[in-house]
Amino acid sequence: MPWVGAAGSRGYPNLNDDDWLWGGDLEAIHYTVEHGIRNPGHDQTRMSQMPAFGRDGLLQPVEIDDLTAYVRTVSGQQRATASAQRGAALFATNCAACHGDDARGKREFGAPNLTDAIWLYGGDEDAIRKSIHDARFGVMPAWGGKLDPVTTKMLAAYVHSLGGGERKTMQRPATK
Ligand code: HEC
Repeated sequence: MPWVGAAGSRGYPNLNDDDWLWGGDLEAIHYTVEHGIRNPGHDQTRMSQMPAFGRDGLLQPVEIDDLTAYVRTVSGQQRATASAQRGAALFATNCAACHGDDARGKREFGAPNLTDAIWLYGGDEDAIRKSIHDARFGVMPAWGGKLDPVTTKMLAAYVHSLGGGERKTMQRPATK
């Protein structure tokens, strides 16, 4: 029976599942614990920022509606509509660089998979629209300077053990 804590609350990931924003092998988890996420004033912190497409006037309200419909379609929450189809085209130009062509996310940017039922900030229409309009900026402190190296290693091992911890993906040499 898994430990019942660490399930996350809105804006904070569930550490028990196998959905990783920045990577779920021991080394990736250790890096995140050491350096944090968007931790101000720390060079090595994990960093990315989704543009605030609505607030900064990069997209029109109707385009954000279309994108919301698209995200709800790829996550299986509604049927494909004309609006969602327009959203697909907008997604390819505005979002795919970070979230991937298939909307399954990209770890180098900590950009979440949008096709599953796991939501950091909520998967209902309002929450998705707000994510696209304002963008989110989830912050985690770096523990490297506050805890000793053995403790951060133990914490990483603990998080890795909670469930969904991944093996290191080995780079295989090219075969001829
Ligand atoms: C520069 C990279 C980048 C781009 C471009 C980008 N995103 Fe994001 N997006 C992110 C990151 C990173 C997060 C997670 C933010 C956090 O952890 O606080 C995110 C979060 C989200 C979320 C919230 C997901 C959840 O689990 O709650 C939605 C929805 C979303 N993006 C949709 C979009 C759409 C639609 C576009 C295009 C209009 C877009 N994103 C473009 C990086 C990006």
